[in-house]
Amino acid sequence: MIKKGGLVFFVVFLLVLPFTAHTENFTIRFSHVVSKNSPKGRAISYFKNTLEKRTKGRIKVKVYPAGILLDDVAAVGAVKNNIIQMASPAFSKLGLYIRDFQVFDIPYLFKNKNEIHNAYSGKIGNILKEKSLSSGFRLLSFWDNGFKVITNNSHPISSPEDMKNLIFRTMGSEVLALQFQLCGAIAYSYPFSNVYELLKEGVVDGQENTFNNIYSQKIHEVQRYMTISDHGYLGYAVIVSSKFWEKLPVSDRKLIKDVLRQTTDLEYTLAAKQNFNDYYRIKNDTSAKIKIKELDVEEKNRWKKYFKDHYDEFSQIVSDDIFSEALKLN
Ligand code: SIN
Repeated sequence: MIKKGGLVFFVVFLLVLPFTAHTENFTIRFSHVVSKNSPKGRAISYFKNTLEKRTKGRIKVKVYPAGILLDDVAAVGAVKNNIIQMASPAFSKLGLYIRDFQVFDIPYLFKNKNEIHNAYSGKIGNILKEKSLSSGFRLLSFWDNGFKVITNNSHPISSPEDMKNLIFRTMGSEVLALQFQLCGAIAYSYPFSNVYELLKEGVVDGQENTFNNIYSQKIHEVQRYMTISDHGYLGYAVIVSSKFWEKLPVSDRKLIKDVLRQTTDLEYTLAAKQNFNDYYRIKNDTSAKIKIKELDVEEKNRWKKYFKDHYDEFSQIVSDDIFSEALKLN
């Protein structure tokens, strides 16, 4: 039987436990598939360095870049099971777990980054956060990359019909498969780390990505044509394992969120700058010989109409709430 004094001590111990637990050392394993020098790679290094510095090394972040540990789809599974604690996959890849993430893949649904950021901070962001929670992970932050362009090795592409019969690598969502299928093209999903070799060896004819992903992977060196279509958005969800998060003391959760807020601001700036700079690096790389096609207003409007005529089909893939909310942001 516990004596009165012992009981008081026990109650006090339970009350202070959440505040003392912050002395525990632990490591966050964080996986991603891009290079250390990409906007995402640099943001994750900043997150690691800042968190380690602010906790004087009590919390460590072990980063696995360039898909050395896991590709993104496997990383989401590993986060759910707390094998790794954090990842920052592209929305398209999360779309395999929660279909609504594919809203960002729908061609020309979002006009600019402003609308994308309003989606992150509004109802769309909240729905995605709730759905993530019921899938075993917590969505802590949305990160940017940018709008995608199309490259291929066969011929210049000026209209969606020009993609007929070409084979494209995609990030694997149903929306992306439908997008290429509507153009009479064939879409296959492959991990990011394989894209350069697949293009070089002619296993696929083309791919879609942002300027900084194209430049960092040297994709422009193994592709002859690029079309600045800006048709869909590549962004990321920074996710953490619920099993891991729920065991953390409140003070550590607050700290991680705080460092992540600063990291997110930095990541937005890095992504915008690096896409801008990498566009010029690709354009000015005379050894690469890639021909760049800028669409004029009329051509761009034809691309938009081509896909908007199929919004009934795209909207079947995501929930009504998400799709109608995206339309309201225009
Ligand atoms: C990424 O930006 O994280 C990867 C994108 C891709 O798989 O193409």
